[in-house]
Amino acid sequence: MLIILNIFATNLIPIKNMCGIVGYTGFQDAYEVIINGLRRLEYRGYDSAGIVLDKEHSSFQFAKTKGKVDDLAAISENFKGKFNIGMGHTRWATHGVPSNTNAHPHLSNNKKIALIHNGIIENYDTIKTMLAEKGYTFQSETDTEVLVNLIEYFMNKNPEIDFPTAVRYALNEVHGAYAITVMHDDFPGILVVGRLGSPLAIGLGENEYFIASDASPFVEFTKEAVYLEEGHMATISLEKGVDIRTITENEKIIPEIQELKLSLEQIEKGGYEHFMLKEIFEQPKSIQDTLRGRLLVNEGIIKMAGIWDNLEKINQAKRIIIIACGTSWHAGLIGEYLIEEFARIPVEVEYASEFRYRNPIITDKDIVIAISQSGETADTMAALKLAKEKGAFIYGICNVVDSSIARITDAGSYTHAGPEIGVASTKAFTAQLAILSLIALKLGKHNGNLSNQEFMKLITELDHLLQKVEQVLQSTHEIVKEMAKDFVDVQNFLYLGRGYNFPTALEGALKLKEISYIHAEGYPAAEMKHGPIALIDENMPIVIIAPKQGHYDKIVSNVQEIKARKGKIIALVNKGDVQVSSMADYVIEFPETSECFSPILASVPLQLLAYYVAVYRGANVDQPRNLAKSVTVE
Ligand code: G6P
Repeated sequence: MLIILNIFATNLIPIKNMCGIVGYTGFQDAYEVIINGLRRLEYRGYDSAGIVLDKEHSSFQFAKTKGKVDDLAAISENFKGKFNIGMGHTRWATHGVPSNTNAHPHLSNNKKIALIHNGIIENYDTIKTMLAEKGYTFQSETDTEVLVNLIEYFMNKNPEIDFPTAVRYALNEVHGAYAITVMHDDFPGILVVGRLGSPLAIGLGENEYFIASDASPFVEFTKEAVYLEEGHMATISLEKGVDIRTITENEKIIPEIQELKLSLEQIEKGGYEHFMLKEIFEQPKSIQDTLRGRLLVNEGIIKMAGIWDNLEKINQAKRIIIIACGTSWHAGLIGEYLIEEFARIPVEVEYASEFRYRNPIITDKDIVIAISQSGETADTMAALKLAKEKGAFIYGICNVVDSSIARITDAGSYTHAGPEIGVASTKAFTAQLAILSLIALKLGKHNGNLSNQEFMKLITELDHLLQKVEQVLQSTHEIVKEMAKDFVDVQNFLYLGRGYNFPTALEGALKLKEISYIHAEGYPAAEMKHGPIALIDENMPIVIIAPKQGHYDKIVSNVQEIKARKGKIIALVNKGDVQVSSMADYVIEFPETSECFSPILASVPLQLLAYYVAVYRGANVDQPRNLAKSVTVE
C-alpha cells in the first residue's frame, strides 16, 4: 500500500509537461529495452521520438524523427543487438513544432554530449543569448538544445571538472522544470540524470539499470526502483552503481529503494484505477500547462501569438462563429459568454455537423474558431473546410499537436493538456476553457472593453485558479465518491445552471450519460418550468450549479420549485453557502471565483460524480460502449 501511495504521489507532483524518457545500461540489448519502454510511455506524448546509443571506441549512434515510436523503430532497426547503453525519448511538443530537428536527443555543438529532456527551461532565452555570444549555434527551436550546450560550455570552461559535475553546474543555472538524461561520448558507460518538477524513476536490476519517466518500461525486469527526488541528480554506471547527489550542494544522498507492487497496467495509469480519474486529477497541471508562457500576470499581459498576429482582423470581425462537437461544443458555449462579455464581439456557437449541412452564410469578414481535443473530428474538419472555402479566417483550439484540424487552421492555440486517453473528455475541456478565457480577456483588453483594472483583476483570478482546482479535487473527492453510491440505480438525472453555468450543466449531464449510461439532461435553470418540471418527483436527482455570483437569487427560486415537488437536490455551491444548501439533500462546496471562471471549478465535482456513478454501475469508464475518443467518420 505504501508503495502505491508513493507512486500515486509522484504523479500528483505538478509535472510541467509530458514527454517520456527511457534510459538503459546493462547486459541486455539497449535498443530493445528503450524502444519497448518508449512504447509504454507514449501516453505522455507521441509527436516525435528519438534514440541514442553508445559504446567504447565508437561515436554516438542516434536516430530521431517526427512521429510515433513505431516510426522511430522503422528507421533505427539496424541498431538492434549492438549496444548495451543508451536512452530514448517520446515527445509532446512545447518549444518548437514536432519535427525531425526538434525531436530529442539533442547534441551539443561538439557532438560529444547528448541530452533528452521532459519539461521546460524557462530562462532558456537568456542562456541561449549568452551561448550565442560565445559562438554556440543552434539547430532546433527547443529549450533542450540550450541546456546540452550549456553543459558543453562548462566542460570547455573548466577542463578540470568531470562530466557529471558539468551537468550539475548547468542545472544550477536553469529555472523551470525538467527530468533529463545525459550521455557523453567520451564517458560511454555513464548516464547522468537530474530532476526538478518532472518525474524520473531508476530501476535497479542485477548488473543493469533502467531510467524512465514512470516505472512501466522496466517493471518486467526489476521490482526495485528509486524515485529521484526534487532537486536531485544521479550518476549511473555498471562500475560504480547509482550515485545520488543534491544539485545545489553536491551532497550525497542515500537512496530509498522501493519495491514495485503494481501491475503494468496500473503503473501506466499512474496508480489510478482509470485514465479518466487520472486525467480528472491532472487538471491543476493541465490548466497550468495551458496558461504557461501565455498568462504573465506580473507583466500584466496575455501573450498569444495567434491572436496578437491577427488582432486587427479579429477585432474588425462582424462576428465569431465557434464550431465544435460534443464536449468541445460545450466549451464553445462558455466561450460565447466569455467573448461576448469581455470583447463585445457577437458570437454564434454551432454544432459542426449542423453547420456544414445548412448552407450557412459565411463571409470573409467572419472569424471561425474550431475547438477540438483530438483535432481529427470529421464533422468539425468538414465544417472548417466549408468555412475556409467561403473565405473565413480560421482559428484552431486543439490539444493534439499537428493534428489535421490544427494543420488547416490559419492560426491557433494548443491547449497543452497532455494526451487524454479516457474517452470522456475532462482535462481537455477545462484546458479549452482556460484558452477561451485568455482569448476573451486579450481581445477585451485590446479593443478597450476591459479597463486595465478589470483586466488585472481577472487575470490575477485566472492565475489563482489552478490552486482552486486543486482545492476542489481535495475537498470534494471523498464526498462525491460517497454520495455517488446513492445514484447507482436511478434512471434519469437533471442538471440545471444559469449564465456561464448553463453549459456546465450540459457538460455535467453529458459526462454522466457517456460513461454511466444513465439518461441525463442539462437545462438552463429557468427553462425547467417550461417542460422538465413535469419529470420531477422524489426519484429524480437534480444537480443545481449555484455559485454566489451567478444569478444566485433566481436560482434560489428554482430550487424552491424543485423542493416543492420533492426532487432530490444535489447543490454545487460556494463555500459557506446557506440558502441553497439548506434546501439541498446533498451539498458540494467549491471556492468562490469570478462567475466567468466558475465553470472550470464546478466541472470538476461533476466529472467525479459521473465517474463514480459509472464505476459503481460496473461500466467500462475509459472505453464506454459505442463511443470513441476521436470520431473520424461523419
Ligand atoms: C467524441 C468524443 C467526445 C468529444 C467529441 C469531440 O464524441 O467521445 O468526448 O467531445 O468527440 O471531439 P474533439 O476531439 O473534436 O474535441
